[in-house]
Amino acid sequence: MTPTLACEGLSKRYGDVAAVDDVGFAIAPGQAYGLLGPNGAGKTTTISMLVGLLRPDAGTVLVGGTDLAADPRRAKARIGYVPQEIALYPELTGRENLRFFGRLFGLPRRRLAGRIEEVLDLIGLTDRADGRLDTYSGGMRRRINIGAALLHRPDVLILDEPTVGVDPQSRKAILDGLELLVQDGMSLLYTSHYMEEVERVCERVAIIDHGRIVADGTRRELVAMVGSADTIELVLDGDVAAAFAKLRTVEGVIEAAMTGAGSVRLIAEGGRYLLPALITAVEGSATVTATQVIEPDLEATFLHLTGTTLRD
Ligand SMILES: Nc1ncnc2c1ncn2[C@@H]1O[C@H](COP(=O)(O)OP(=O)(O)O)[C@@H](O)[C@H]1O
Ligand SMILES: [Mg+2]
Repeated sequence: MTPTLACEGLSKRYGDVAAVDDVGFAIAPGQAYGLLGPNGAGKTTTISMLVGLLRPDAGTVLVGGTDLAADPRRAKARIGYVPQEIALYPELTGRENLRFFGRLFGLPRRRLAGRIEEVLDLIGLTDRADGRLDTYSGGMRRRINIGAALLHRPDVLILDEPTVGVDPQSRKAILDGLELLVQDGMSLLYTSHYMEEVERVCERVAIIDHGRIVADGTRRELVAMVGSADTIELVLDGDVAAAFAKLRTVEGVIEAAMTGAGSVRLIAEGGRYLLPALITAVEGSATVTATQVIEPDLEATFLHLTGTTLRD
């Protein structure tokens, strides 16, 4: 199947900085693809090249098989782009803003009117469509800016950190809306430095750091790179020191630490299967009153691959 969006060998330098260095990936029809990386990783520069705003030093972009450099008009018509900076008209209403952008994209007036109503419904702003933009919250403005990118029915929606500066309620509305679009068959390129959003929205993820993709795969594949060790936290009641000494010797436990008056943290292979053995081990010294198993996530994967945290 022809990918909706594919790139290969994309590179861009600014002086000494390799902002984007040999980036490549392919997004299948109906697939949500995440680009996860900290600030300065090269996400916006990558997107700018994918949407034809920035000429790459090297590399190719194919939109539904069409080479962006060879036929930009045709390629760009298949892309919906939601920029990080929201450019909307504060004195116009939500509906008027959509109309303005629809005309800008060259949509015929007749078809546009109906499409605006569909898009307003999709972004959940039908009720507020006649309010001026300067009365909207940051999240509502962001939804209008996503709506504007959807008017021409693109095959792929490219979003540059769409939840930055957005209130939690709108954030949820945005993520829910994106899930609906994907269920409807839209492809997505979602960029973020929020691990939990990418984990929720995206089926495949590329981790980008210093302009390079350091790993990519399904969420599960990436997490598997960290290894199968889980973190287990136990709260104990009784002779905690004696119980701790017993816990360290349980087969499968890699590391153990006392983390509070009655709590112990263990790192163990296949941790959740070890719980019965742990509970049995402390018998006679203490009882386990609470347990928590923390499985590795993309945040742990990122730390493992790059040695830094995502939020630095
Ligand atoms: N116009 C520019 N001129 C010089 N350096 C730039 C420019 N745009 C981006 N950079 C640099 O390229 C790197 C990647 O930036 P960017 O793509 O904006 O990262 P992200 O979107 O992941 O935060 C950063 O080191 C940034 O400082
Ligand atoms: Mg950016």
